[in-house]
Amino acid sequence: MKVVFFNGSPRGRQSNTHRIAEQILAGAEAAGAVTEEVFLVEKNVEHCRGCFSCWHKTPGQCVIKDDVNELIDLFLESDFAGMGTPVYGMYMTGLLKNFLDRFLPMATPHIQKADDGTFYHNGRVAKYPKRFFVANAGFPGERNFDLLKAVISQQPMALQVYRNCGEALNNRPDERLSEPIQKFYEALYAAGGEMVRQGQVSEATHRRIQTEIISDEDYMAQANKHWDEAIHEAELAGEKEAD
Ligand SMILES: Cc1cc2nc3c(=O)[nH]c(=O)nc-3n(C[C@H](O)[C@H](O)[C@H](O)COP(=O)(O)O)c2cc1C
Repeated sequence: MKVVFFNGSPRGRQSNTHRIAEQILAGAEAAGAVTEEVFLVEKNVEHCRGCFSCWHKTPGQCVIKDDVNELIDLFLESDFAGMGTPVYGMYMTGLLKNFLDRFLPMATPHIQKADDGTFYHNGRVAKYPKRFFVANAGFPGERNFDLLKAVISQQPMALQVYRNCGEALNNRPDERLSEPIQKFYEALYAAGGEMVRQGQVSEATHRRIQTEIISDEDYMAQANKHWDEAIHEAELAGEKEAD
């Protein structure tokens, strides 16, 4: 069993996305899977040119020669493939969007109509991995994920993580957060194991993942203090440079 996670944060190995993914992957490994995290920022991922060559001149093959062909092979070889992103402008990063646009060769060109009146393209690949999705947002609250949820929930997902107050996972030491963050990580670890053993993460584990790690007010106060200090430090450094 192979579980692959494509990390779409520009922060790569320093990202909150990675902090979340490594727990899921550790849980999956403990349940017997082989896991791999791909940091898209370390790869050469060009954007789709919209030429549609992959639909007529070279069916199923993209004309761009970068790292994406190899990454799509990795995606197709996996049993579970996860995508992860911080919320950027209410949606996903350009990095992940560029990567996903490059999946076009896996679709066939002819437009199909579904019974519910929506339209789609059939895939040209016999077997796709099961999917899971991870997002984290810098804001508190739930509305940050509205756009992502609308898109992501159109496809079956073994696991969906929508972590608000994402920067609480980062480098701001606060003793009071150790326990809720630890519980969050334990729930992610459990989710990785369930995915491998049961093929799907339970509602109960999803609920554990979504529990609050910090109140909106405390998070805002911490974040705003952090930025006051960062701005102040930058000003001091600027003054020193000017001396
Ligand atoms: C360009 C940019 C746009 C962002 N837009 C949003 C946003 O619309 N909503 C939000 O909640 N956070 C937003 N954020 C904050 C990130 O989602 C947040 O810092 C996140 O924890 C970063 O995760 P990462 O470490 O995995 O990259 C934005 C950050 C950047 C740099």
